[in-house]
Amino acid sequence: MNEIGRIQERLRRLEEEALAELRASRGAVKIQAVRTKYIGRKGLLTNFLREMGQLPVEERPALGQLANQLKAALEEATEQVLEKEHQRQRADQLLHAGVDISLPGRRPSLGSTHLITQVTEEIISIFQRLGFEVSEGPEVELDYYNFEALNFPKDHPARDMQDTFYFSPNVVLRTHTSPVQVRTMEKRQPPLRVIAPGRVYRHDSDPTHSPMFHQVEGFVVDHEITFADLKGTLTFFVHQFFGPNVQMRFRPSFFPFTEPSAEVDIQCVICQGKGCPVCKKSGWLEILGSGMIDPEVFHFVGYDPEVFTGFAFGLGVERIAMLQVGLSDIRIFFENNLQFLKQF
Ligand code: FA5
Repeated sequence: MNEIGRIQERLRRLEEEALAELRASRGAVKIQAVRTKYIGRKGLLTNFLREMGQLPVEERPALGQLANQLKAALEEATEQVLEKEHQRQRADQLLHAGVDISLPGRRPSLGSTHLITQVTEEIISIFQRLGFEVSEGPEVELDYYNFEALNFPKDHPARDMQDTFYFSPNVVLRTHTSPVQVRTMEKRQPPLRVIAPGRVYRHDSDPTHSPMFHQVEGFVVDHEITFADLKGTLTFFVHQFFGPNVQMRFRPSFFPFTEPSAEVDIQCVICQGKGCPVCKKSGWLEILGSGMIDPEVFHFVGYDPEVFTGFAFGLGVERIAMLQVGLSDIRIFFENNLQFLKQF
């Protein structure tokens, strides 16, 4: 082997030794020491480069290049070993603190919108297509808006229709979303086409009645609004929501703030009108209350009932959601049972 061959061989061995030592070293100080031993100012490779001055001129460039490549390779290997060392130390620290980073991670479980929210949004979007705007009112409400201005006089038996949670004689948890009608009409002039979703509270609790539930109120006030507009609007809603073939009927009813009043029933979606326990063998299910806004309500808000007429309706969101997915107990909505909620 000639001189050049020997030098090349020396360089290769130097590289092998250096890499083996680097990999065997533990701790940043030791790793740095290996680096210094080979490529530090007085390191083996540095000395070697210095000695190259004694080589014939024509050999220097090739060997110089080889030595520089080796130097770069050792620098890079040092960095890699240091990085690995850093990760290992961090893992040791975590393990010490009771965290094992080699275990598979815990996937955060993704939430989803509650069925009641989904149904509310679907109802709103149907009315928005008819030009209704969304408005909201407070859940802690004055007796005046919840009852009095809706034509439920104090001590009148009509108040028994809604068993109420009172804060004080004048403050209640609202029993329905109808107070939003009065609050809106007080502030604004017709034409109005408003939908008002929200939580309401009653002293009720059984498989079809919850103490907290959701309603969507809707009302329209303008010149020459008639019962035909009410029928057309609610028929459009029922057909959009439950499908174009679902039968519906308007049944005379009573609310102090509408005259005439009607409840809307749809053909039972469980038995298709044949009669079953859910519809109590009648073939029909009630979904909402409605009617033409009583002139008395217009007096409370300062509208002239000779100039304006309007209709209103209020539907129970849980009732509609139960019909849509075929549930018989309302309480399942509010038990935070993930197995149930995840289905929607
Ligand atoms: C009202 O609350 C009227 N404000 C509706 C209205 C608005 C009539 C505008 C005319 C004009 P009612 O008490 O019937 O009416 O309640 C409306 C709907 O709420 C019912 O059809 C039912 O679906 C639902 N509901 C009533 N009580 C409960 C309860 N405790 N739990 C769940 N849903 C209920």
